Amino acid sequence: MKKIEEYVTSIPDFPEPGIIFRDITSVIGDPDGLKLAIDSLDDLLEGIDYDVVAGAESRGFIFGTPLAYKNGKGFALVRKKGKLPRETIEASYDLEYGSATIEMHKDAIKPGQKVVLVDDLIATGGTMEAAARLVEELGGKVVKIIFLIELAGLKGREKLAKYDVASVICYD
Ligand code: PRP
Ligand code: ADE
Repeated sequence: MKKIEEYVTSIPDFPEPGIIFRDITSVIGDPDGLKLAIDSLDDLLEGIDYDVVAGAESRGFIFGTPLAYKNGKGFALVRKKGKLPRETIEASYDLEYGSATIEMHKDAIKPGQKVVLVDDLIATGGTMEAAARLVEELGGKVVKIIFLIELAGLKGREKLAKYDVASVICYD
């Protein structure tokens, strides 16, 4: 059986010189890759008590929704600014390249809910740190943050030091 690393495609100098882009389309485009990715993320949640899964646009949606479905949970969207139609709260953050603002609907998380945050990849950790802030502003508790891919060299984990963080595979 192939490992997740073997499904990821690495593209040098995208979208900017010096960045190695870890492309997950080759993971999810393969039925075995997709199943392995979801099942591997699910393994990281063993023993975790949670109410809802939340994921960041867009690649966090790909992995977060099947994970929620598999576990009988709902899925809350963390979207880029200007996409959600109802009342939102927002948070801004810096990326490995550029900066962004994300939003959640004000009723996406109910006060006291235990939330698992999911994304395909952690680079600087900015996206998930901002998403965690949104969850907490809504009264939720972040009980676990999981990634398919961790870019350890960017030290994103340091930004998430106060959370329980896990990843399936790690690049230096
Ligand atoms: C990518 C990736 C993570 C984030 C990681 O998303 O999917 O969400 O960047 O970077 P960070 O740890 O430095 O915050 P991107 O914002 O490129 O959006 P996309 O998923 O729509 O491609
Ligand atoms: N998002 C931020 N940095 C990335 C990288 N190196 N590869 C894929 N997605 C990313």
